[in-house]
Amino acid sequence: MRGIILSGGSATRLRPCTKVTSKQLLPVYNRPMIYYPLNTLIKAGIKEILIIVAPERAGDYLNLLGSGKEFGVRFTYEIQDKPTGIAEAFLIGENFIDDEDVTLILGDNIFEDDLSEDIKSFKKGARVFAKKVSDPERFGVVKFDENMKAEKIVEKPKEWMSDYAVTGLYVYDNRVVQISKDLKPSDRGELEITDINKVYLEMGELDVAMVNGEWIDAGTFDSLLRAQNLAKEKLQDKLVI
Ligand code: G1P
Repeated sequence: MRGIILSGGSATRLRPCTKVTSKQLLPVYNRPMIYYPLNTLIKAGIKEILIIVAPERAGDYLNLLGSGKEFGVRFTYEIQDKPTGIAEAFLIGENFIDDEDVTLILGDNIFEDDLSEDIKSFKKGARVFAKKVSDPERFGVVKFDENMKAEKIVEKPKEWMSDYAVTGLYVYDNRVVQISKDLKPSDRGELEITDINKVYLEMGELDVAMVNGEWIDAGTFDSLLRAQNLAKEKLQDKLVI
């Protein structure tokens, strides 16, 4: 299993803080934000991790994280020139992924749960992680049938469809690279991760696990503040880095 952290983007919603640094390097209590998703991958035993960053911030990431030796893993770095979608991570990471399975986590996603077993037990297809939220319109959303089997998945639905957001942690088998190559950009000009999930759903190979603890996409000032409190109150003894 290979790991990818997507840590690009320009984070205009967090201006002026992100004028001089990357969102994922902002402090979340006593660590840079990216330490939390990194912790999720390292705890799951993933040793080869690709960090995808925006070109103007690449030096900052190298200074902060280095080779990975300090954490007992190996980091590879790649550049995402423009924020043209999460699914692009699998194109940028094609050589890195090679013929392995891959876990992708977004650099601003913070999980309270230890999801190691869900990652380690992955065999085939796709596994995503859902969480009930009060603001589903901000996210990819998954609808379940009466047996809690996923039946529909939509990126930022305009009309309410379900309260279950698809969080920023995704586990795929190696077919994800080819699926990404066949994607067309969405109306917002991005290669959508939701479109990858739709392909697996149509093949009957999308497994949706539930997130029980807190989950935060720390991309706004309010969610960043919530992340700070979560980190201070509940995450300190769960961090291995
Ligand atoms: C992205 C995905 C969305 C997912 C979310 C999780 O949203 O497109 O499906 O629910 O991350 O954080 P974006 O950050 O592009 O708004």
